[in-house]
Amino acid sequence: MNYLLGIDIGTSATKSVLFSEDGKAYASASYEYPLYQPNPGWAEQDPDDWWDAVCFTCRKIIADTGIDRGLIKGVGISGQMHGLVMLDEKDRLLGRSIIWCDQRTEKQAEYLEDKIGRDRLISITANPAITGFTAAKILWVMQNRPDLYKKAKKILLPKDYILYMLTGEFSADVSDGSGMQLMDVKKRVFSKELCDALEIDTSLLGYMHESADAAGKVTKKAASLTSLKEGTIVAAGGGDQACGAVGNGIVKEGIVSSTIGTSGVVFAHTDKLHIDKLGRIHTLCHAVPGCYHVMGVTQAAGLSLKWFRDNFCKEEIDAAAKKGIDPYVIMDKMAEEIAIGAGGLIFLPYLMGERSPHLDPFCSGVFFGITPTHGKAHFIRAILEGVVYSLKDSVCILREMGIDVSQVRVSGGGAKSPLWKTMQADIFESDIATVVNSEGSALGAAILGGVACGVYPSVTKACELVITTKNRQKFNKTDAIEYNKYYEIYKSLYPVLKDEYRNLRMLLQ
Ligand code: XUL
Repeated sequence: MNYLLGIDIGTSATKSVLFSEDGKAYASASYEYPLYQPNPGWAEQDPDDWWDAVCFTCRKIIADTGIDRGLIKGVGISGQMHGLVMLDEKDRLLGRSIIWCDQRTEKQAEYLEDKIGRDRLISITANPAITGFTAAKILWVMQNRPDLYKKAKKILLPKDYILYMLTGEFSADVSDGSGMQLMDVKKRVFSKELCDALEIDTSLLGYMHESADAAGKVTKKAASLTSLKEGTIVAAGGGDQACGAVGNGIVKEGIVSSTIGTSGVVFAHTDKLHIDKLGRIHTLCHAVPGCYHVMGVTQAAGLSLKWFRDNFCKEEIDAAAKKGIDPYVIMDKMAEEIAIGAGGLIFLPYLMGERSPHLDPFCSGVFFGITPTHGKAHFIRAILEGVVYSLKDSVCILREMGIDVSQVRVSGGGAKSPLWKTMQADIFESDIATVVNSEGSALGAAILGGVACGVYPSVTKACELVITTKNRQKFNKTDAIEYNKYYEIYKSLYPVLKDEYRNLRMLLQ
């Protein structure tokens, strides 16, 4: 039996999973690291932490299983998207990475649209200027840290930094690369026109691959640090959302996924390029060669619940530790005791600004409708509901674009909560299912690794071979009607608060 390794560079942790070629998870290991938020709206991580995590998790899997390393035929890497890693001429890191959820780049996003023209920018990159995407971050460094930018000899995305450390190859892939906002998305290459206009030297950018191409082989040095075998093939890999979609079998039209991790994403495969002219959801290249995807992103999905857990749920954390269970299980049970609508408490999950549908770096979280009748359980329920209302905004846009959302595959940490799953069915008014193998992005990455080394003939064929669904669940019409009443109020809140969000942020600057 052949084995494939999928490595997922996440925001809270890196998880590596070893799969047998029939797609079964054989062993896994994860390693957590910090997120730095030195100013409101800023988010940074240390790429050395990611690399330590990769070395630790690979070594652990190989030591725990005692597997013959030669049986691991291919490796694929999935990564948190849009982050900026810069290396100097000696390949030293130029500071921490500014990561996907950082929102400091409002001025640079405006500059980008002014410089290129909104319509031209959309026609090249398939998206209007987005604060979270890498181009705006590069411009921020150029304008605010010219000393650092001058020293930059390589610009990489998080997973491309890991690929560089593993193989010595300076590579990029179309799915993650299109989230940099420097690509001609239709042609699937970096855009010379755009880079020239922004004065970004294209030699600073890696060689562009399709995601399942072999991008390199594990070097001797990386082999000694990771315990992988020298020469093992590494695929170009993909952004975590494209990899998660491959791991959920979203590789043809007609199936949509909803993933609640740190962020929340509604994702649909498209054979042809579809663009939302209003820019409310993103259009990017898919990890399936020649294909595209559209996705709506809620910046703080799991992040909202984690924030509440870490700051207000000490009792639940202690109780869970005593029982040896996850605190989220206790929080889920508490929320289940509360009826739909959380007793009139509505949560806007804009803790990290918001992308879909508002594209607003200034908005922030809100609990609306607090009364003395509300206790902790209402707040937990309101967070779960508010996150799904935000994802419903994206589902509605996909429906407007003519995309069929009658069936949704749910995944991510959020799919472990029976309540959060049922809410997604009822609030989206869609039937839902989960995939048997819940490793999402790591499985998608391993599939890309499997195609790169020839274990599978193509991404689509691999998904047919290894991905099956379970737990199909129909939405409940009565509950859907009830949720809709609160969703209408949810939707009306952002437009009223829009200007005040900006005024509030100005006070903090
Ligand atoms: C997608 C996005 C997030 C990050 C972190 O556009 O920003 O999904 O990749 O998971």
